[in-house]
Amino acid sequence: PSFASSGGGGFLQCLSASLPRELVLSQDSPSFGSVLLSSIRNPKFSTPATVRPLCIVTPTNASHVQAAVLCGVRHGVRVRVRSGGHDYEGLSYRSERPEAFAVVDLARLRAVRIDSAAATAWVDSGATVGELYYAVAKAAPGLAFPAGVCASIGVGGHLSGGGIGMMMRKYGLSSDNVIDATIVDARGRILDKDSMGDDLFWAIRGGGGGSFGIVLSWKVRLVPVPPTVTFFNIQKTVDQGAVKAVTRWQTVAPALPEDLSIRVIVQPRQALFQSLYLGNCSALLRTMSSEFPELGMMRADCREMTWLQSTVYINSGDLKTPLESLLNRTTSLSTFTKNKSDYVKEAITEDSWEEIFPWFNRTSAGIIILEPHGGRVGSIADADTPYPHRSGVLYNIQYVAFWTRSGATDATNWISGLYDFMEPLVSKDPRGAYVNYRDLDIGENTVVGGVTSYDSGKVWGEKYFGGNFERLAITKGEVDAGDYFRNEQSVPPLVSRK
Ligand code: FDA
Repeated sequence: PSFASSGGGGFLQCLSASLPRELVLSQDSPSFGSVLLSSIRNPKFSTPATVRPLCIVTPTNASHVQAAVLCGVRHGVRVRVRSGGHDYEGLSYRSERPEAFAVVDLARLRAVRIDSAAATAWVDSGATVGELYYAVAKAAPGLAFPAGVCASIGVGGHLSGGGIGMMMRKYGLSSDNVIDATIVDARGRILDKDSMGDDLFWAIRGGGGGSFGIVLSWKVRLVPVPPTVTFFNIQKTVDQGAVKAVTRWQTVAPALPEDLSIRVIVQPRQALFQSLYLGNCSALLRTMSSEFPELGMMRADCREMTWLQSTVYINSGDLKTPLESLLNRTTSLSTFTKNKSDYVKEAITEDSWEEIFPWFNRTSAGIIILEPHGGRVGSIADADTPYPHRSGVLYNIQYVAFWTRSGATDATNWISGLYDFMEPLVSKDPRGAYVNYRDLDIGENTVVGGVTSYDSGKVWGEKYFGGNFERLAITKGEVDAGDYFRNEQSVPPLVSRK
């Protein structure tokens, strides 16, 4: 079938013959707009100019996902899969170029089944990490799962691309804790760990979403947490020594005991040190006074709580916010953002930080978030999983520019200016980036002869995956040589060089 010329008529007929009518929303269906919007995070991808899907398929079981893929392959219409819709470039529901495509929205496939005795869970891709946290802590107090900080992130995309969070220094990325998975491949088959083979099982744990198939469900290892954890937020202004504290933090944080994670949010004229400690206040005070006295942490900074409460508190800063807020899937469409990322392997000097801080005075709408590595996340070998930013990485930087209706130009100029300024200070050859902080500025695929070219993919791919990119492309060649699962930054199939 010719993808370029497909108008979608045959595809829609195929869907209506294979799926219950109410699960397929074409553009003229009354709920198309609201379902499309339901998990869009970034209003810049919801404009009249946005390339929207031909239809949205909302599966309620695995056979519906298979049918959508089979109809798509047969009639030359690609599907993009959406779990939580948090992709920073919106690639799960919009196309950068004109294209007739469909969205398979997994929001209704979101069961979490917990085996407390085995300390494992099966979680469907359409669940959010907040739903996962809540289900785990309620069913198995004492167990937890290491994943990201924002509760509404979808499990499907997050686990596909890694999963940076406050417990990764002790337990690794979310994807490091995946022990089985089920996936619908480009032939419409459902495969699990044993039937998909080692390469594909390796690739889906960090190789980025949208390239290899549609992951339906993940079996994850749950991890032990104590009944009481301790959280702190310590704000330091530039006048209170923020520059010195951040400079020192760079080498201290990645070397701290694994139970302790301190991330930093650099904001206009100040830095916020945010920490989760898997233990009580007294033990944390002892560790902080021996390892990082410069921060001046005091007993009054301690907030003791359960691990589940900490997943709420980190965003709300309020112990009264109900735990049920983790189950809220509604997203606000008020803030436009642009995000970029880097990795730092050699500490940035105090003089350079003196120059970085004033960048935040030029805007009221930009921050950077520094996430410490080291510990478990840094001790896994670079080639064991697609995520290559392991040994020797001190921390990840996430750049965030945000704006409301107007101000796009200022904000995007600001973030690209800062990114250019940082170039000599961060990892190089290649300059690293994190696939879950998707950024189309670092490269977009070119399609040659109907298939994404390896060379175009390499440009962005080696930034996300380093030396693992080639194995990802070979795996793609093995499982989807025809490049059915394709987007602007999907892994290209590499067939000839094997
Ligand atoms: P979405 O549904 O948009 O999918 C993302 C990509 O994966 C798309 O290419 C999509 O096609 C593909 N995909 C989705 N489901 C799939 C499936 N079932 N099978 C195969 N491919 C699939 N990250 C982090 O590591 N730590 C953090 O703390 C945060 N915090 C954060 C906060 C906020 C507000 C946002 C918007 C984002 C983050 N992130 C993050 C980034 C986040 O991890 C990343 O955007 C994930 O890919 C989001 O997964 P979703 O399922 O929500 O995205």
